[in-house]
Amino acid sequence: MTTILHKLRLAERMDRLGTESAFEVLVRARALEAAGREVIHLEIGEPDFPTAPNIVEAAAEALRQGWTHYGPPAGLPELRQAVAEDAGRRRGVSFDPSEVAITPGAKPIMFFTILALVNDGDEVLYPNPGFPIYESMINFVGGRPVPYALPEPEDFEVDVDGILEKITVRTRLLILNSPHNPTGGALSREKLQRLAQGLVDRDLFVLSDEIYGRLLFEGEHTSLVQFPGMKEKTILLDGFSKTYAMTGWRLGYGVMRADLAEQMILLMTNSNSCTASFTQRAGIAALEGDQGPVDRMVAEFRRRRTVMVDGLNRLRGFRCRQPRGAFYAYPNITGTGRRSQELADALLKEAGVACLSGTAFGAWGEGYLRFSYANSVENIRKALDWMGAWVAKNV
Ligand SMILES: Cc1ncc(COP(=O)(O)O)c(C=O)c1O
Repeated sequence: MTTILHKLRLAERMDRLGTESAFEVLVRARALEAAGREVIHLEIGEPDFPTAPNIVEAAAEALRQGWTHYGPPAGLPELRQAVAEDAGRRRGVSFDPSEVAITPGAKPIMFFTILALVNDGDEVLYPNPGFPIYESMINFVGGRPVPYALPEPEDFEVDVDGILEKITVRTRLLILNSPHNPTGGALSREKLQRLAQGLVDRDLFVLSDEIYGRLLFEGEHTSLVQFPGMKEKTILLDGFSKTYAMTGWRLGYGVMRADLAEQMILLMTNSNSCTASFTQRAGIAALEGDQGPVDRMVAEFRRRRTVMVDGLNRLRGFRCRQPRGAFYAYPNITGTGRRSQELADALLKEAGVACLSGTAFGAWGEGYLRFSYANSVENIRKALDWMGAWVAKNV
């Protein structure tokens, strides 16, 4: 009998799905390395620190104790409680465990929020440049993506009036991300307050992506949930990936009004069933244990930020503002006369430095590159030297 291989016929929605090109650049960089080239990785969006030993030990102990079975789709009650306390205390608000949904990484909260709230043709406001999955998911569910810009002269903070002007009767969701990937910008209390005043009477939700909330180098992290009337409208997205250097563990959460949390949990039941139980036990240890490793990691990122930003500002054609949070530098490269993608490709192939084009984060990222400084100061210095030599010859 012969097997017939039919043409792959995918559902139409698959055409609307985007991707994260950080992973593609990583593959290309690894291919160059396999061919014997040395590459410095400044494209990756994850802390280069190990997960703290007390967290690793809590997971190992949980495995030995048999936390190896299905758990509740909402997450373990003890972790929901610990998250409610930690997330609330840090923001000066009170959360109930029933408002917490635990997920494998924070990304599902993004997907579930959009799936649960956005109908065909509904408008969703999102940052451009921004985390590419926002736009991908809005398109995937048939929503209408409405980008808003982050002006460089304002250190990539949002233009509050610009956002409020874009709201229409079809607007269902506004996505905020602070500290912001890829610009490193962070929203000030004053901007958030004005935004809250403009949003409080609107019938819409806000997805507040605060995954980099503890990676802030100046001032205090402020969240929209802190302003009157906003807690009920906000889905707070956060997790363990960046704060505790746990990207591979897949542990994140959303905090939102309890009736909406129940819908997220229903989506969990329909997709992942639950988040790995021993990972959640480790999450409790992370929240309740010594926070010293987090503070030391932030201090080290602050040190690297200076090296990275000062170095970029010395390159001909580059102009880089001081990012306030996350671990990304986002220089304006229009002075080089090159397009972003072209420059990123040349730096990888000819200088051995992997970074991302601003356009990996949306069309309005043209004119910029993103460098992650989740790498050693030694490697950052080396990358800057290599880029300096390349720029001297080519710009
Ligand atoms: C802005 C932003 N939100 C969410 C995530 C996803 O986090 P997680 O790995 O916990 O799913 C990332 C990861 O890069 C991110 O940059």
